Amino acid sequence: MTIDVAISAEHVLETDVRNKTVIVIDVLRATSVMITALENGAEKIIPVQTIKEVFNKAKQNNSAIKAGERHAEKVEGFDLGNSPLEYTRARVKDKTIVLSTTNGTRALLKTREANMVFIGAFLNVNAVAKAAHKIGSDILILCAGTHGKLSLDDALCAGAIINAILQNKTTKLTDIAWMHYNLYTNNNKIETVLRNCSHYQLLKQKGFNSDIDYCIQLNTSTLVPIWDGENIRIV
Ligand code: MLT
Repeated sequence: MTIDVAISAEHVLETDVRNKTVIVIDVLRATSVMITALENGAEKIIPVQTIKEVFNKAKQNNSAIKAGERHAEKVEGFDLGNSPLEYTRARVKDKTIVLSTTNGTRALLKTREANMVFIGAFLNVNAVAKAAHKIGSDILILCAGTHGKLSLDDALCAGAIINAILQNKTTKLTDIAWMHYNLYTNNNKIETVLRNCSHYQLLKQKGFNSDIDYCIQLNTSTLVPIWDGENIRIV
């Protein structure tokens, strides 16, 4: 088994994921939102690319919750934005959520041909590492990145997941996977490293400080959401 990392959705072809277990990460904030919504009892999340698709899919799914962001802000006419703290039990329990975000859902939609797709974030590092290793096929950690570029939050989380896998198992790593592992093991004070991250700074500027504090918590969840090509849910 080999672990590889892609630094953004633009760094993989849809065919690159064939026969692999893929872990999609968008720490700030899409995959943290997905884990939180399911943790709080949402029935399922349908990821889509465009704002128009959100409106259409929500209509087809019994007035599902319309959710997501553009430029990190809630889209006009949506019910929820992309702040995990909005996805409370009162708001999402037993609900279907149709979600579109700038980078996170785009990365996810590239993984249709994968063997298995898990949703990862700092919140569920140990759980997702264990689930992915258990499958036994090669693992690709797909970081959403930001507009085709590496994003430090996702890179650090990829390193944390690799570190968690290596705690108990011997596994081959590609050079880029070693780089992410070293980034995390040499800098495991997450907040200090992320202060230099551009998306962290953007979220701070927009006043989403509590989201950042929430998303950088390590292993608060044991949930491992799976995307089956249609829905994200817990199985
Ligand atoms: C994205 O998918 O690009 C992010 O989750 C953006 C955000 O933080 O809202």
